[in-house]
Amino acid sequence: FQRGLLSGRHVLINAGPTREAIDPVRYISNHSSGKMGFALAEAAAEAGARVTLIAGPVNLPTPTRVQRVDVVSAQDMLEACQAALPADLFIASAAVADYRPDTCAEQKLKKTPGSDDGMTLRLIRNPDILATLATGAQRPRCCVGFAAETQDVLGYARDKLQRKNLDLIIANDVSQSGIGFNSDDNAVTLIDQQLTTTTLPQASKQKLARDIISRLAALLDQQDSN
Ligand code: PMT
Repeated sequence: FQRGLLSGRHVLINAGPTREAIDPVRYISNHSSGKMGFALAEAAAEAGARVTLIAGPVNLPTPTRVQRVDVVSAQDMLEACQAALPADLFIASAAVADYRPDTCAEQKLKKTPGSDDGMTLRLIRNPDILATLATGAQRPRCCVGFAAETQDVLGYARDKLQRKNLDLIIANDVSQSGIGFNSDDNAVTLIDQQLTTTTLPQASKQKLARDIISRLAALLDQQDSN
């Protein structure tokens, strides 16, 4: 792992879950801990990049020499990512909620007195942060997504690579215990635009992050020479 690999580059990374408010005390979210994205931010800073880390609600210390911006919802995360542009490299490791309640109640929702009926929440689509940046006017030259899948992992990942206009997708099988959401370890498969796959076997998120950052530095250098 070489320290100067990313010197002179601005790397934008998002990490962690988003929270979508139902009322002042309740929200919809997921199990992302932010560990994968924070490890990537740490490795990118070690490689000499200027790093901006847009973090959902997580319980992790900020890596050294990383500029961190805390956000809560997907909408906030999109705005913070856009405000951090331009960037040479964008890595979308956040587990962004695809849907949010159509309204956030001003007061705590109450059960209907005398009724055992259930309740229905109406959800609407959130913006796709990665697709928005990867198709926008200020598109970072290299856009990298993750695909967290529980079945047909490589098939869905290839679909996201193309649909979201990415340079690389990192397929993450989150059905396996011991890797993925909230674990200290992960195991991933990288898929590039030529659909070449590279499997990185189970290792700590720190070790994988350094490996991924080295490969992304090489991809940026290759794009420079084209
Ligand atoms: O945080 P950890 O506990 O360390 O766990 C790591 C992880 C499993 C969360 C991470 O490795 C991972 O796989 N992150 C992507 C999670 C995800 O939401 O994947 P997805 O397949 O639903 O989304 C595909 C890509 O689009 C992702 O890069 C995601 O950031 C992005 N996206 C998705 C929806 C949305 N509305 N906006 C987005 O930008």
